[in-house]
Order: sequence, then structure tokens, then C-alpha cells
Amino acid sequence: MNPNPKLKGQSALVTGANSGIGKAVAISLANDGANVVVNYVAHPEDAQAVVDTIKANGGNAIALQADVSNETQVKAMFQEMYKAFGTIDILVNNAGLQQDSPFEKMTLAQWQLVINVNLTGQFLCAREAVIEFLRRGPVPERSRATGKIICMSSVHEVIPWGGHVNYATSKGGIMMLMKSMAQELAPKKIRVNSIGPGAIQTPINTSAWSTPEALNSLLTLIPYNRIGEPEDIGNLAAWLASDESDYITGTTVFCDGGMTLYPGFSTNG
Ligand code: BGC
Repeated sequence: MNPNPKLKGQSALVTGANSGIGKAVAISLANDGANVVVNYVAHPEDAQAVVDTIKANGGNAIALQADVSNETQVKAMFQEMYKAFGTIDILVNNAGLQQDSPFEKMTLAQWQLVINVNLTGQFLCAREAVIEFLRRGPVPERSRATGKIICMSSVHEVIPWGGHVNYATSKGGIMMLMKSMAQELAPKKIRVNSIGPGAIQTPINTSAWSTPEALNSLLTLIPYNRIGEPEDIGNLAAWLASDESDYITGTTVFCDGGMTLYPGFSTNG
């Protein structure tokens, strides 16, 4: 636990928190004093391991299963969360996946799975969180904002990505979901922002870093010349959920070592 926890007494739900970026975000929010729901859809043992890590650090967490693209399961998960922690202050819409394919070979099932989980899943969870924020209203001793939503987007909300058209489309959609929600909900003191990670070393992109050749090729896209660590995103999420960022809403914060600076243009164009 951090000595001056920024999120003391707040309750957070992190979707897809049993691995990768979600796991780091869950651990980071808990280290800053939040009660954390570690959502997962498969591999309960991994979710339990995240809960165990949080408890070993002196934090508080439970694991809850739900497929974020399933409305009934999402609603049930939020009800379970309220039984355990009473309410929600912070939602981190993190669950996401890739189903890569050349465009002409992409199946409707690959398209729909990615849109359903990455985009519709964020809508379903955000809607439940907003219902509770509005029902409960502000709690000034916990936070200046009535609620905070952080959407896990990607550099691919702005960088087109051939071979991954379904994924890039989902992230472009998240950008407008986030901005439109932020515009509508700011008067209610609900802040909505996105994090745009670049290449972070997690299971989703193993092929991009697991051999020296792949890693060297990846690094040509990253001016800062290192792959991202899940903790880079975890630390940012804790800050974006806290009152230190209270005047920030409707923004994507890229955390990408400069990937969105289009490094190919430093020696060309
Ligand atoms: C993708 C990763 C990729 C990174 C940078 C992320 O959104 O999930 O597979 O390495 O963007 O291209």
C-alpha cells in the first residue's frame, strides 16, 4: 500500500483484470487504497492470484466472473460488487481481445467477437456504473467527482492497423464513446477518459516481443526505445482515477513511448 493512498475508501471495478494491463491496473488501484473487483471471464485461478497479490500488499479485492459483452452477466456482476463494497466510484473498462486476420479473410464471427467485447462491453459496463453514480450522487469526502470511468483504448484509436481492422475499429469507436459520454456526463460531475497504450509487454501481443528479431522490429516504432510495462499503465490509471486529475475529462492520455509520434517521419517524408 502506498503511504498516501490517492483512492482511499473508493471502490473500483477493473474488467479483464486477471492478466496483462488489467492486472497491473487492479494492483495499482488497490495499492492506492481502493477496494477492487478483479473481473475475469476465464481462468479464475489467475484472478484469484491477483486478489492474493493485492491482499499481500495490504489491500482489499474480490474476483467476479462476467463476460462483459453479456448484459445479464454484467448486471449481475455490478449487483455482486454492491453487495461486497456498497457502491462503485471507479470503473476501468479494460477487457479486450484481438482476432487478427487479413481483411478479405476476416469472418463475421471474428468481427463481431472483437466489437462485442471491446466496444459493446465498454458500453454495458459504463451504463451500469453511470446508473449507480447518478443514484448515489457525490460523496465529497471520497472524491471531488461523482464517478470516474477510464476506457482502455489504444494507439490504434488514431493509428490505422492493417490486418487488425476489427480491433482498430473497436478502438476508434471507444474514442467517440468516451468523448460523447464525457460531454453528456460532465455536468453530473462524472469524468470519462481513455488511456491509449502503445506496445505493452502482455500476452495479447506476445508475437511482437517474444523473439529478439520481433522486439527489434517493434522498437523501430517506439522513439523512447523500450517496450511498455504493465505498471506504466497501472500508475497512469491510478492517477487518472484520482482527484489529482480532477479537471481532466474527455481526453485520451497516450502512454506509448512516442508511438503516436509517427517515428518513420523522423528520417523520411
Ligand atoms: C495492441 C497490441 C499492439 C499495440 C501497438 C495494442 O493496442 O493490443 O497488440 O502491440 O497496440 O501496436
